[in-house]
Amino acid sequence: TVAERVADLLSHMTREEKVGQMMQLDAREDLDDQVLRQHVGSILHTSPERLVRAHDLVAQTRLQIPLLVGEDCIHGHSFFEGSTIFPTQLGMAASWDADLLERVARATAVEVAATGVHWTFSPVLCIARDLRWGRVDETFGEDPFLIGELASAMVRGYQGGGLDDQDAILATAKHFAGYSETQGGRDASEADISRRKLRSWFLPPFERVAREGCRTFMLGYQTTDGVPITVNDWLLNDVLRGEWGYTGTLITDWDNVGRMVWEQKVQPDYAHAAAAAVKAGNDMVMTTPGFYQGALDAIEQGLLAESDLDQAVSRILTLKFEFGLFENPRHPDVARIAAVVGSAPHADLNLEAARRSLVLLRNDGTLPLADAPARRIAVVGPLADDAQTQLGDWAGSSGQADWLPDGHPREMITTVLDGLRAEVPAGWSVDYARGSDILTLEQDPAGAFFPDGQPRPQVVVPTQPDEALIAEAVAAAEAADVVVAVVGDRIELVGEGRSTATLELIGGQIALLEALVATGTPLVVVLLASKPLVLPESVRRAAALVWAASPGMQGGRAIAELLLGRIEPTGRLPISFARHVGQQPTYYNQIRGQHGDRYADLTQSPAHVFGEGLSYTSVEYAELRIPQPTVVKGDVVRAEVTVRNTGSRPAREVVQVYVRDEVTSVSWADKELKTFRTVDLAPGESATVELRLPVAECTIVDAAGNRIVEAGTFELLVGASSRDEDLLTARFTVAG
Ligand code: IFM
Repeated sequence: TVAERVADLLSHMTREEKVGQMMQLDAREDLDDQVLRQHVGSILHTSPERLVRAHDLVAQTRLQIPLLVGEDCIHGHSFFEGSTIFPTQLGMAASWDADLLERVARATAVEVAATGVHWTFSPVLCIARDLRWGRVDETFGEDPFLIGELASAMVRGYQGGGLDDQDAILATAKHFAGYSETQGGRDASEADISRRKLRSWFLPPFERVAREGCRTFMLGYQTTDGVPITVNDWLLNDVLRGEWGYTGTLITDWDNVGRMVWEQKVQPDYAHAAAAAVKAGNDMVMTTPGFYQGALDAIEQGLLAESDLDQAVSRILTLKFEFGLFENPRHPDVARIAAVVGSAPHADLNLEAARRSLVLLRNDGTLPLADAPARRIAVVGPLADDAQTQLGDWAGSSGQADWLPDGHPREMITTVLDGLRAEVPAGWSVDYARGSDILTLEQDPAGAFFPDGQPRPQVVVPTQPDEALIAEAVAAAEAADVVVAVVGDRIELVGEGRSTATLELIGGQIALLEALVATGTPLVVVLLASKPLVLPESVRRAAALVWAASPGMQGGRAIAELLLGRIEPTGRLPISFARHVGQQPTYYNQIRGQHGDRYADLTQSPAHVFGEGLSYTSVEYAELRIPQPTVVKGDVVRAEVTVRNTGSRPAREVVQVYVRDEVTSVSWADKELKTFRTVDLAPGESATVELRLPVAECTIVDAAGNRIVEAGTFELLVGASSRDEDLLTARFTVAG
């Protein structure tokens, strides 16, 4: 059995070899030292050459324990030239389509597995609440239910039917838990979050994937109540391994163990830090070279029992045996790489994902362009032809260009300009003017908090509006029938350690849009923004607005198809857009506020709400009914609603189902998404949509931290977005 093999191997290992098994080091550092002296169990950030070298080195070691190879393949294989880069998680979340996400994860797994990588640090289950946070783009947005649905689909896609599947890779649920609950949106700042709040909203998606067999969990960088999450005994042992029965592997985030010494200063030295991390139940320690000596010293000094070490090492060896690495170490496979990496079927799937990620937020009828007599299109804006920004973060050639390979040939990427040029009907013309720049980077003079020897961070300096560039764009707009302006944020404003104090369009973009609106030519704004931004007044005066997030390699083609009416807009917002940066947070499922819980100088509603998204047709909801509105706790509430496509184009409607618990023993969210159904409707077609809501889903977390259903009256809210005005209401009662 696996248990016997693990016990046998463990009995032959020296203490040094055991400590090494717990370490995951950066393959760009000295591989010989890592493998031959420190006996590392895992590496990350590889290249094909480094992988071959690492496996050769393992063959020279005494026990030849195969390496686990990890990587951040978040929306495609970020570390491999020519791989398929899909839209970001946030973009794909706009599809509200678990099946699509599962297929995307599967395609990613197929590419990743062929290249000899075993383990992706994906999906991200953090809840995006403060839009200033630099990693909002990596999330599925602001709703725990939607996050759970989509994350669970991605885990299925990555891990496939089982670990003996050659195309399976290990998934990671991250960042456990509460990492996104920042101070002012600043990445990795303190997460000031109660256990009850964790249980209410932050833990449920993690619980779901833990119970469904996600093989690994990654711990975030944050501290809560003074304790780094890496050593949070309650969360790791009582909740994750205890209540949820999780038997998988825990990995720290980057140097979490070292950070306790040099950054958070909650441990005096590496021996104490290593002991605390192992005792709390961590199995794999990411990129803390000092862990090696620290753990050995900890055992010598009696801070750590060898049995604690054995437990962690056993879990890693179990994973390696169950993954079959001893029989087949899953080295890079040249033939499979040639067949699957960046393959045509994956490009097709990528186009489908990009199409489904687009959200139409405003349209005065200008779109689709094919319905109008447009002949001349002016494409303007600094992002109209910016392949790098379009791919988004974790995409090789992205913001990590300083440390990732620049690996995606330009011809694999269709920008909006490329897409429109290729897709417009014969006889139409496309003119292009950049119109503005966005930013430059400068060294941060106040970056001295970084330890000696590390590079100081750079700060973004917005560029000033350039009158000559604007004039060129205005001339193009004046000569055109319609102007498509592609604006948003650049990759330097996105990612780990790259949160933003503002959410506005920066550089010359606001001035550019003002000037374009003033021309009177219908303005279509395409927002290539990694996350929701605050939109200027000129966008409210635009003819149409499409949010495209970071739509990946095929994004420009999908956008062109949407503008030209070749496809229908079907995306729905997985996250709200704020009117002002000071309006944070704007997520829809906030706890019920009181009379003063508002700003005097701003309307309370967000600019665009969770669930919002237009199509080129119109859909009406009618006759929401609950035939049996009195239920008990074990029941399922059954409801029906009629939806009708009243327009002249096909609809793909996301029927959203929210619940409002009218009176709760503790304050609770005003409404919460509980389920959704997608229906396709031809023009004029209507359908009766059946809805099932298990009463067991209608829970709150009470004052003692227990998730319970409270008897009483509930509202079932069904419609096209989370906005009350878009929802039909029916009541049901849960009898005591
Ligand atoms: O997986 C990531 C994590 O999300 C953030 N810190 C670095 C890790 C490895 O690259």
